[in-house]
Amino acid sequence: MPGAAVRPVVGQPVSRVDGRLKVTGGATYAAEFDPGPDMVYGVIVGSTIANGRIAAIDTAAAEAAPGVVAVLTHQNAPRLPYQRHQQLPVDPAAGERLHNLQDDRVRFQGQTVALAVARTFEQATFAASLVEVTYDEEPAVTTFAAAARHALPPDPAWEPTMFGFREEMGRGNVDAAMREASVRTDAEYVIPRENHNPIEIPATIASWQGDQLILWDKSQWVDNVRDEMASVFDIPAENIRVISRFVGGAFGSALRAWPHVALAAMAARVVDLPVKLVLTRRQMFNLIGYRPHTVQRVALGADENGRLMAIRHEGMAETSTYEQYAENLLNPTRYLYSCPNVATRYRFAPMNVQTPTAMRAPGEVSGIYALECAMDELAVALDMDPIELRMRNEPDRDEDRDLPFSSRSLRECYRVAAERFGWDRRDPRPASMRDAQGNLVGYGCATGTYPTLYSPASARAVLHPDGTAVVSSASSDMGPGTYTSMTQVAADALGLSIDRVRFELGDTSLPKATVHGGSMTMASIGTAVQEACVQAKRQAFERAGVTDPEADLGGVMRTLSEPVEVTAQNTAGEQQANYSMHSFGAVIAEVRVDPDLGLVRVPRIVGAYGIGRVVNPKTAHSQCIGGMVMGLGMALLEQTVVDSRNARPANSSLADYLVPVNADINELDATFVEEVDPHVNPLGVKGAGELATIGVAPAIVNAVYHATGVRVRELPVTPEKLL
Ligand code: MOS
Repeated sequence: MPGAAVRPVVGQPVSRVDGRLKVTGGATYAAEFDPGPDMVYGVIVGSTIANGRIAAIDTAAAEAAPGVVAVLTHQNAPRLPYQRHQQLPVDPAAGERLHNLQDDRVRFQGQTVALAVARTFEQATFAASLVEVTYDEEPAVTTFAAAARHALPPDPAWEPTMFGFREEMGRGNVDAAMREASVRTDAEYVIPRENHNPIEIPATIASWQGDQLILWDKSQWVDNVRDEMASVFDIPAENIRVISRFVGGAFGSALRAWPHVALAAMAARVVDLPVKLVLTRRQMFNLIGYRPHTVQRVALGADENGRLMAIRHEGMAETSTYEQYAENLLNPTRYLYSCPNVATRYRFAPMNVQTPTAMRAPGEVSGIYALECAMDELAVALDMDPIELRMRNEPDRDEDRDLPFSSRSLRECYRVAAERFGWDRRDPRPASMRDAQGNLVGYGCATGTYPTLYSPASARAVLHPDGTAVVSSASSDMGPGTYTSMTQVAADALGLSIDRVRFELGDTSLPKATVHGGSMTMASIGTAVQEACVQAKRQAFERAGVTDPEADLGGVMRTLSEPVEVTAQNTAGEQQANYSMHSFGAVIAEVRVDPDLGLVRVPRIVGAYGIGRVVNPKTAHSQCIGGMVMGLGMALLEQTVVDSRNARPANSSLADYLVPVNADINELDATFVEEVDPHVNPLGVKGAGELATIGVAPAIVNAVYHATGVRVRELPVTPEKLL
């Protein structure tokens, strides 16, 4: 409880505590650490085929080039143990990770076949260009269509990961209900591969001191990087320290420890010098994961009143030949609407590509795109308002898990969003509205939902006799404002003013944390922070012999002769089995479509979200408008074009891979409905990061249909699809 004199800061729009460091260049990103003057640089040589073997590799010219320290290939690289100490919970649960330079096998385009190590980055880049590789090329699966012909169900070894995943599910009798339905829709929806493209590209600096490994890495989970390195090198985790103080955007791209991290560590051991390895953006498209290409079929059946009678949702997603990466494409379909007959099925399309991975709202954003476009098509078929259709199918409880929702504010989200947007001005007839310039105007809506995930985590609170506190956990901050929001939670739990509290993260020497992903950081790590602070405060009072719970902690701390230190676990998980916990949101978009050019503009997006307690409305708002921007990109711009001849990403640069720029963005209105959730966790928080990008793409696509009468089912909505 806060002390009498200190105003609580949770719920306040506190500016970023690290904002000054970020805008002045004081924040140190992975590639910017300085392990000493003897650091050398690694540059990767990537394969130029998608499948086959290395027949010969000639490194003589590279080795003779200026400044070169070593050129590693599968012929001279040390054999690494690659012992699986444990199943790492962000890894695909079937298959085996890619090994660096352990054999002559090439499994995808751009795979590492050599590493040039030199005194400078330029020297290493030049040396890498001199490595000559000859291949025995083998036929490769380079297109989704070819892979789909050999689609597979999940491997029997598949286990649910921390993000949850169930392959097949059914309730009721979908076939019979579909036959009885008065109105049916059945269509296929396609999302191309997308790459995360954060500003900070993947980077690792590795340094060995004897048998101790230090890594400065771009990571959303330093503990996971440590566990992965312990497995790869078969060394105790205690011998490894991973530091990641700032992350310049990640969106899921830094959840796993990608092969280049171990490669940097391997090279540092070989040359016995610190090695810096920074991927180029072009290499980033090949050497880390991406959102998989998906093809989904959604069939809906409803009665004449718009009540859903049957849903069939089948999804297929690309994966690599060596791992089965799966995501929650179909989970929301099982609980989002009331429907007695539901069937879902997931299939893999294995290709000669690197393994895909989680990209903001992995699975949900793709599955809900298909489901929410299908709902719009059903509304058209029923001649019913699309918001009204959704309201008629609001469930009383989670019909998949047969549990009550801990809270569910979707009705209120739609009410607020519709009012702020002015939905009542919508003429329901397609292509009926125009602006003064003659552009076609459309309004579209879609629902978003994301689970409130939770995972064990710990945190430490140290109360110093000078009246300041340092609170820490091995969390990460990829941009949402973890440094700030955790400082707020700690300050309130201690009853100290926010300038007396510092929060530290991004270091495996800090208490073990869970992943900074899945929108679970505040629910999991925040609750650990709160617990550690509550316990530390209690201990300080006990030690000082103060019995008045309203006493000012700052004053109490000044009477202490030594710091009070408490490390605590979170205890937020016990209600997870009793309630279905999800955030919900309603998104409404307006589009203007040039009827001659097919150009789509988005003058405004309104989103209303039920995310429980909002710890910091300023940073949460920023997350939400960021999510809208990403959703707009998904709808209109983003696609990784994969060359069908060789599976090479053809647009692997920021010039060719389009993301929204400032000129694409107009009014973004993100608002939170009042939502008190007593069950979800002691902080009452649900998380916003993933939710904010869900529902945006279907709202825009549905608005494009309303504007034009053209139903685009394959993203992105580019002009030629409208002409
Ligand atoms: Mo998010 S895709 O869980 O970083």
